[in-house]
Amino acid sequence: MTLTTRPRGTNDVGPGDIELWHKLEEKIRQVCAAYGYSELRTPMFEHTELFQRGIGEATDIVEKEMYTFVDRGERSLTLRPEGTAPAVRAYLENNLGAGALPVKLYYYGPMFRYERPQAGRYRQFTQFGLEVLGSSDPLLDVEAILLPLELYKACGLSGFQVEINSIGCPKCRPSYRQELVEYFEPHVDRLCSSCRSRLHRNPLRLLDCKVESCQEVLAGAPQIGRHLCPECSAHFAQVLAYLDALGVDYKLNHRLVRGFDYYTKTVFEVTSAELGAQNAIGAGGRYDGLVEELGGKPTPAVGFAVGVERLLLALQGQDKFQAEPAAPHVYLVHFGGESKLRAAQVAYFLRGQGLWAELDYLERSIKAQMKAANRLGSRYVAIFGEEELGRNSIVLRNMRDGQEQEINLQDLEQLAKILGECGK
Ligand code: HAM
Repeated sequence: MTLTTRPRGTNDVGPGDIELWHKLEEKIRQVCAAYGYSELRTPMFEHTELFQRGIGEATDIVEKEMYTFVDRGERSLTLRPEGTAPAVRAYLENNLGAGALPVKLYYYGPMFRYERPQAGRYRQFTQFGLEVLGSSDPLLDVEAILLPLELYKACGLSGFQVEINSIGCPKCRPSYRQELVEYFEPHVDRLCSSCRSRLHRNPLRLLDCKVESCQEVLAGAPQIGRHLCPECSAHFAQVLAYLDALGVDYKLNHRLVRGFDYYTKTVFEVTSAELGAQNAIGAGGRYDGLVEELGGKPTPAVGFAVGVERLLLALQGQDKFQAEPAAPHVYLVHFGGESKLRAAQVAYFLRGQGLWAELDYLERSIKAQMKAANRLGSRYVAIFGEEELGRNSIVLRNMRDGQEQEINLQDLEQLAKILGECGK
């Protein structure tokens, strides 16, 4: 059973699905190039401490969701649950800040979290993320939102909603935390066990609890707005002004706090109406203290990450993002023996020219080979008949209009030219 079953919360992506992934990955590269981002590839696992320090000890991810193991050298390592802490680690380790600022990086790849799997929530999932380091310009907060929106639009997605909030900085947060604790304490009996355990350690996290009894308490909870220091207030006002000037639709959400300790000032989330409970198709925020927390000099930064599986689910729901299944340029129909040998030679030549040449490996009848060519959607069929081979030629049939022509095998360049043009 376990030999043929993949681990819970993981997915296989194979023929029929992978074409859409490739198309999306191409779009990601295009959008990132237009915004001036370079790709960063970091290891799949990091020292556990990076996430404990970076994400924060009192977060769901660090408390309950990390895939942590001890390797044979007795080191504690963790499969990366997210890409921001690794990007900052790589930024520092490779001294990426030594050149022109800001540094704009993007990454794409699997992340791992031990969560309860359901539609849109997996234990291995793919993120496309971006991080920009070295500037506190509010325009960069806005660009970190615009880039993923550009991607959603380039894929044809509609019906998504941007939600935004400011959670302040270490200067303004303590008084808000204090007010929150004072507000929640008299209601402690109505809070869920996880909120109760976090009340004093991380009271902001209570704001996005989804448990019904907590929701009732939350309705009257104080908002951070009036606790923001002048710098955070001005920053947030500027972010909103840029969003307005650029015509970006957004909703203020005072309860948006996000599940990572590294955030400062702006936080945002994009949700899709196509999805159920797991409706966030991307999220991010500013994290001006993380570089310093991980040992670098104070460096403001902001970023965003898109959940690729969720984006594809949302696109599926709207039926707009489709990939043409790939089809061979030509199917070489042979009769075995000498005819198969010639077909193999021609296939070798054509493939060297970057053309998809397919042929039979199962000793099938001519009729079955024609059927196979049809099923694959091959644009041409080349028939290696005995008579034609005697003349060192083949019959090339255009499967769209049924037209046939005899092609001399001396002139394989001509064959490649005809086939190369058929896809245009
Ligand atoms: P996050 O909100 O944890 O943020 O994840 C970003 C996105 O990844 C989510 O909005 C969702 O689309 C997707 N995602 C998260 N968990 C899962 C899961 N278990 N299954 C499927 N998709 C999932 C971060 O990871 C931050 N590092 C984002 C960031 C970048 N902040 C600043 N820079």
